[in-house]
Amino acid sequence: MIPTPDLSHLTDQDKLYVYDPAEDTFLFLDALEQDAEDLKSQKPLICLEIGSGSGCVSAFMGSILGSTNTLYLCTDINNRASDCTHRTGRCNKIPLDPITCDLAHPLSKRLHHSVDIILFNPPYVPTESEEVLSAQSDRSISGSWAGGTDGMEVTNRLLGDVEALLSERGKFYLVTLERNNIPEICERMFRTFRLQCQVRVKTSDHLELTSARS
Ligand SMILES: C[S@@+](CC[C@H](N)C(=O)[O-])C[C@H]1O[C@@H](n2cnc3c(N)ncnc32)[C@H](O)[C@@H]1O
Repeated sequence: MIPTPDLSHLTDQDKLYVYDPAEDTFLFLDALEQDAEDLKSQKPLICLEIGSGSGCVSAFMGSILGSTNTLYLCTDINNRASDCTHRTGRCNKIPLDPITCDLAHPLSKRLHHSVDIILFNPPYVPTESEEVLSAQSDRSISGSWAGGTDGMEVTNRLLGDVEALLSERGKFYLVTLERNNIPEICERMFRTFRLQCQVRVKTSDHLELTSARS
């Protein structure tokens, strides 16, 4: 059992503004734990988490990999999430590098085909498109869940960039709901980029999907 990262530094005030790890986060940790041996033997040099929130998932990845030279880049649109991620890294002695930005946009060119692991637990709840637009522009806690049409409006913007970011041996982990139309995601990733998808962990509604080179 790899312990859940210490998040005791998060205050009630943090939780008003930043996504508090929930069932989907813990499902994500289960999936990573299940792949722990593969992840260690992969010896990733760059791990990029999109939407790191509290930093719990990247800190857990750091515990799996142990003492390595891995660079942990963690983006979030919410500045307070970047602050929590930084503190979670410090509290768990994992060197997390938070960057406040939209998806991986400012990094895309520099990270071309060099990211070994991409992690994303996106805002996936189906909502009106107006809700996702205002949540994304406010950069507030509602940006943690508001996903627009099919819950896919934010995820869709990332899917097109994944292949260009992934290294030769790269893997992309994505949390999804059945309602996000998983067969469609898999078909698109294969048809467009020849990336193979697998469902790794499943609960009643949340599924965790991995996409890697075929
Ligand atoms: C469901 S929460 C997941 C948080 C954390 N990774 C976890 O698993 O507990 C989604 C996160 O994505 C962030 N987010 C939403 N839209 C984003 C975007 N366009 N770029 C980067 N981060 C985004 C939110 O602020 C939120 O922290």
